[in-house]
Amino acid sequence: MNERNSRRVRASAVNEHIYRVFPNDINSNGTVFGGMVMATIDRISLVVAERHSAETCVTVSVDEVHFMAPARTGDTLIFSAACNRAWGSSMEIGCRVVAEDSRSGERRHIVSAYSTFVALDARHKPVAVPGIEPDCEGERQRYDEAGVRRERRLAHASEIRALRRSRG
Ligand SMILES: CC(C)(COP(=O)(O)OP(=O)(O)OC[C@H]1O[C@@H](n2cnc3c(N)ncnc32)[C@H](O)[C@@H]1OP(=O)(O)O)[C@@H](O)C(=O)NCCC(=O)NCCS
Repeated sequence: MNERNSRRVRASAVNEHIYRVFPNDINSNGTVFGGMVMATIDRISLVVAERHSAETCVTVSVDEVHFMAPARTGDTLIFSAACNRAWGSSMEIGCRVVAEDSRSGERRHIVSAYSTFVALDARHKPVAVPGIEPDCEGERQRYDEAGVRRERRLAHASEIRALRRSRG
């Protein structure tokens, strides 16, 4: 991470990307198909990672996706995503999705997701990215929580590697 070139969260954030739900987005349960929501989260989070790093990025892991409430035909989905924290070559992007009832205007928080992206150079090798400079209490909280998640996902990846090695 290049602390001297730290960037602000708002410089790369995507705010309120609108997606109108139509019947072709619906699963056999009559609610919005989760795979469509996850693909949209991945696309939007990628844009945030590439804006922040100014490099080509790839998803390396998605460690938390919480579906809290369903959405239905006629709802409008509103996606917002931001870079919570950046380390060497990787960044955690958080994405929040709310469903808005277009008639009443009522909004429900339906999904939160945390994804890790890695910036790649022209030879497709991980490359250093700028750090994140949190500006307000909410951004500092997300920055600190991202540190906890990173420790957990790296410890988990290392445990799995050790287990596989032990089995030859
Ligand atoms: C991303 C990729 C290049 C990383 O390669 P690698 O050999 O693991 O590289 P490194 O060990 O140098 O790790 C690079 C970064 O990824 C992070 N990383 C690696 N595995 C990770 C995991 N499971 N979860 C979170 N971060 C991980 C490392 O911590 C490191 O971040 P840091 O520089 O900020 O510390 C490689 O795993 C890859 O190509 N994966 C496929 C990506 C892809 O095709 N995605 C789907 C399509 S977009």
